Amino acid sequence: MKLSKIVIASCLVLTGFGASAQKAARDAKMDAYINKLMAKMTIDEKIGQLNLPSIGFDVTGPILSQGVEGKIEKGMVGGVFNTYTPNAVRKLQELAIKKTRLKIPLLFGYDVIHGHRTIFPIPLGLSASWDMPLIQKTARAAADEATADGLNWVFSPMVDIARDPRWGRVAEGGGEDTWLGSQIAIAMVKGYQGEKNDLRREDAVLACVKHFALYGAAEAGRDYNTVDMSMRKMTETYLPAYKAAVDAGVATVMSSFNEINGVPAAANHWLLTDLLRNQWGFNGMVATDYTAIMELKNHGMGDDAQVAKLALVAGNDMDMVSDLFIGELKKLVQAKKLDVKYIDLACRRVLESKYKLGLFDDPYRNISEDRAKNNIMNAEKLALAKEAAEKSMVLLKNDNSTLPLKSGQKIAFVGPMVKNQRDLIGNWSGAGDWKKAVSFWDALQAQYPSNKFTYAKGANILDDQALIDKLNPHDAQIVLDSKSPADLIKEAVNNAKDADVVVAMLGEAFGMSGEAASRSDIGLPVNQQNLLKALRETGKPIVLVLMNGRPLTLQWEHDNTAAILETWFPGTKAGDAIADVLFGKYNPSGKLTMTFPRSVGQVPIYYNAKSTGRPVSDQKYTSKYLDIPNTPLYPFGHGLSYTTFGYSDVKLSKTSIRNGERLQASVTLSNTGKYDGEETVQLYIRDMVGSVTRPLKELKGFQKIYLKAGESKTVTFNVSTDDLKFYDINMKYTTEPGDFKLFIGSSSADVKEADFKLL
Ligand code: BGC
Repeated sequence: MKLSKIVIASCLVLTGFGASAQKAARDAKMDAYINKLMAKMTIDEKIGQLNLPSIGFDVTGPILSQGVEGKIEKGMVGGVFNTYTPNAVRKLQELAIKKTRLKIPLLFGYDVIHGHRTIFPIPLGLSASWDMPLIQKTARAAADEATADGLNWVFSPMVDIARDPRWGRVAEGGGEDTWLGSQIAIAMVKGYQGEKNDLRREDAVLACVKHFALYGAAEAGRDYNTVDMSMRKMTETYLPAYKAAVDAGVATVMSSFNEINGVPAAANHWLLTDLLRNQWGFNGMVATDYTAIMELKNHGMGDDAQVAKLALVAGNDMDMVSDLFIGELKKLVQAKKLDVKYIDLACRRVLESKYKLGLFDDPYRNISEDRAKNNIMNAEKLALAKEAAEKSMVLLKNDNSTLPLKSGQKIAFVGPMVKNQRDLIGNWSGAGDWKKAVSFWDALQAQYPSNKFTYAKGANILDDQALIDKLNPHDAQIVLDSKSPADLIKEAVNNAKDADVVVAMLGEAFGMSGEAASRSDIGLPVNQQNLLKALRETGKPIVLVLMNGRPLTLQWEHDNTAAILETWFPGTKAGDAIADVLFGKYNPSGKLTMTFPRSVGQVPIYYNAKSTGRPVSDQKYTSKYLDIPNTPLYPFGHGLSYTTFGYSDVKLSKTSIRNGERLQASVTLSNTGKYDGEETVQLYIRDMVGSVTRPLKELKGFQKIYLKAGESKTVTFNVSTDDLKFYDINMKYTTEPGDFKLFIGSSSADVKEADFKLL
């Protein structure tokens, strides 16, 4: 015990993060209100506030959240999740308000991850838009729909930096980069909680940044797996995105399932109290992840009583689904094994969250059928869904301007995604109705009714029914085609032979990414590869349109197709957006936020790696593979357009600066192609010499520039010496004088560079 205290103390000094804006003056009125309320509360009522059961369904086998209504009436519930609609929420809230002694309202949480009823692209897709105002708008729209449906708390944003595409939950986050991930975290918190962070507005929700912390670094990309990481790596790379959400005023935090250097996050006092609260100044509420307290027993942290105490003392305020706070805490206090002050503190934080939402004044927050009818899936939201879907798509390759398609062409559309609806809205779209999603085929028929298009399914998404059933146990909709795999391929090949161009729409079933969806092989399913190989034999140009929740390995596909468009899971307006992109009504502008490897053997792979002492070269004893290059198939920041963009050399306003000064770096960007289009101009910096090794490149800025065909524009970045700061050998966040390289370009691997000095 003593030893861990010492280690913890040194970590605290080392992390070097400043206290956040949350450490503002306390709200005296709120304090007075809650003091008065808590003075009336029994210990049972206080512990009841810490309980967060699921009502609706359970994911981990046995139905854990039994008899929730009864518990609400007894004051044994502080909030519930997995219930929505004005009626269902009102019914439960009435139980709390009318049946309990102190009439304390409930929180209503839900996994609103990429839209509530109107579903936007999966977060990894949204991040590829590099469009922060757009991302903020999607979160705002989601909050508006969620509150109209009675919710007041969303379990989002998920800001886990992830560099291992085997991990299925990469679909839920903003990719591999710390700086970009932090911008996204801020945009989403502002979207959910409102620009002014006024949580009393009827359309604002408590956001919940998750999964704190480092969940994206699970060993071997296997979900829930161990995380063991140096303090430097977590401080530089993995923690800043959570910190950015805290600084943006996020109201709640979810502690993660994984262990961190030997202590599970849900029991990690250093993480949840020393770092999050004491150092970062977070003053909101922490909830555990689903049954995470119970899972501490599997981690080997003790019995029910021990793990309940550990979790509370570590800094969790609400127990999601384990029922161990309500089961154990009172007994622990009675046995003098737990100081009641921990219960008081957690209860206060839960009540504060309710107070901030204005629930004590209006527990129903103006929920009404009318508001739900007007606000949910209205024209404005659907238009936003289409815009977001278009802007998230990434053109990975386009030989000989195969895309956009020309409407007079004879086109064979092939693949399990062409008529698909079920998968379009992706994972974590709980309240989204896939039957309302626009399939590509329907969009096509609506827009081009008299064209020479043929359709053949060509393949099932997977040929393994048992695996399909496992992917999403709550959904029995996906069944194998009655035709044999060979017959499906034959039919597709026949269509292809008659066509000018073949569009193969392939990918993952939505359940192949997301939670508990790790894959060791991240290629297209083998049966779909077989289809593609057969199509290749026809010699027709192939456009591959992908739908998937993670970077895939696509070397064969890259070598054997003319064009590849990554659409992720595009959401409710998927079909319309894909049709507009394929036929050139929208010129694709998305850029990857996660590296696509050549082979899974390169994983983890990310653009801002270090040099090593033996950088790759033709020499034998250098850092490389014998069988493949070190470079990825598609690097971070990559994404083509139907037009072409030219970059001039980089001009610097000066070649040396002093601390506190700025320099301007500019390029002339020219649209040198035939289409109007948008380019994301990226700025990277490298610190050439440091007291610790520095990455080869780090993203420090970007600008989205729209240019008409033939137009040029000077794009200028203001670089400040804050952009040059890093955690030095003493973990002090500072600059060190010396040489720097600055890069501006179209992706992390396609840049122009210039040198400057920090004096
Ligand atoms: C996931 C969380 C989610 C929670 C509640 C967990 O299994 O890890 O991301 O918010 O369930 O549904």
